[in-house]
Amino acid sequence: MRTQVAIVGAGPAGLVLAHLLNNAGVESVIVENRSRNYIQARLRAGVLEQGTVDLLRSSGVGQRLDREGLRHDGIYLQWPGTRQHLDFPELCGRSVWVYGQTEVVKDLVAARVANDLPLYFEVSDTAVHNIETDLPTVTFTDADGNAQTIHCDVIAGCDGSHGICGPAIPASARRTWARDYPYGWLGVLAQAPPSTDELLYAWHPHGFAMHSMRSPSISRLYLQVGVAERLQDWSDDRIWTELTTRLAHEDWELTTGQLLDKSITPMRSFVSLPMRYGRLFLAGDAAHIVPPTGAKGLNLAVADAKLLADAIIGSYGSSGASLLDAYQETALRRVWRCMHFSWWMTSMLHTDGDDPFARELQLAQLRYLSTSRAAAQSLAENYTGLPYGW
Ligand code: FAD
Ligand code: DHB
Repeated sequence: MRTQVAIVGAGPAGLVLAHLLNNAGVESVIVENRSRNYIQARLRAGVLEQGTVDLLRSSGVGQRLDREGLRHDGIYLQWPGTRQHLDFPELCGRSVWVYGQTEVVKDLVAARVANDLPLYFEVSDTAVHNIETDLPTVTFTDADGNAQTIHCDVIAGCDGSHGICGPAIPASARRTWARDYPYGWLGVLAQAPPSTDELLYAWHPHGFAMHSMRSPSISRLYLQVGVAERLQDWSDDRIWTELTTRLAHEDWELTTGQLLDKSITPMRSFVSLPMRYGRLFLAGDAAHIVPPTGAKGLNLAVADAKLLADAIIGSYGSSGASLLDAYQETALRRVWRCMHFSWWMTSMLHTDGDDPFARELQLAQLRYLSTSRAAAQSLAENYTGLPYGW
């Protein structure tokens, strides 16, 4: 088959890219190796920046987000004895929305299917070819076992951190930067009304804990655990006991409930360049990963997709190849800002062994955030997301 843009991966990056291209009359084909049900149920991020929400709304997929998304005007930072509220609209004029990645994916897939646009699920053997030429192709085996070839102008590698597009760039042309953390997040989804009106990030001598939510009846909670911890060692009772201990605050109680899901995610900061090699462009987790503290991963994937969509649309119009040529440099400004913010939030909130010096630095920084408007403003503008074009 022939299309303008072949997109590998139907995560947030690939789906947003395809949606924006379609709005501008640029054709694309998406290939995804998982099933529709699987990608719509895969539990991941939950916080959308102001810019992500504005983009989903203005591009025509914001109706359910407007009905079901929860606008949040701040967060709580907590350490023993103190729970400090940061008011985002007051600090930086912006907000965030709690609306799960599962819901964003469902809305974008529904829009694509409703318009009868090509999206192949459950493909296998995906490979990219001739990426250094003007005639690149993507080959794959479709769900019925048929070998398929997509001829295109551009390939968008939106296939996440375990995809095939990044590795298709010759190793001699690649450079990576990485930081692995000695801990991960044990995340649970609970049938329990949230016990907090805002997301709660808690520093505790036992390790970081966090209280988020998905709806008025479903809570999402996280615990810092050692990198080698196994899920089978964490009974539901043990999880609730540790959450109750780490989130404890005077005159406040954590509502518990049935656990609907639990998983452990390792934490990593990672950047792989180039984001463009010939006719192959990488977006989202295919090019960079951030630790989840600060909720940047999904938003960064959407920001890349918006930038790449504008560049591809521009390449068919009067601006020619200039935006495509600038894609990596422009994207990297936000990527490294988010790398720093996620690393900083992670380092401030997670305990790493029993280092008394590190612990006092963390508490000094938390107290500074609660007393200095300048410090709080810096957190707020990064958390709610710097505007596109920044
Ligand atoms: P992905 O969402 O990974 O999408 C890539 C898609 O490509 C997938 O659907 C995959 O199936 C598909 N694919 C892969 N290989 C192939 C192939 N060979 N052929 C075809 N398709 C392929 N971020 C936060 O902000 N907060 C969080 O709490 C949070 N939790 C996370 C938990 C986990 C377990 C993980 C893995 C990530 C989490 N993230 C979180 C990060 C966030 O979810 C990602 O940054 C976001 O999903 C990136 O979107 P993407 O489209 O770039 O990649
Ligand atoms: C969620 C995840 C995050 O990484 C974060 O910083 C805030 C909320 C969540 O899954 O709801």
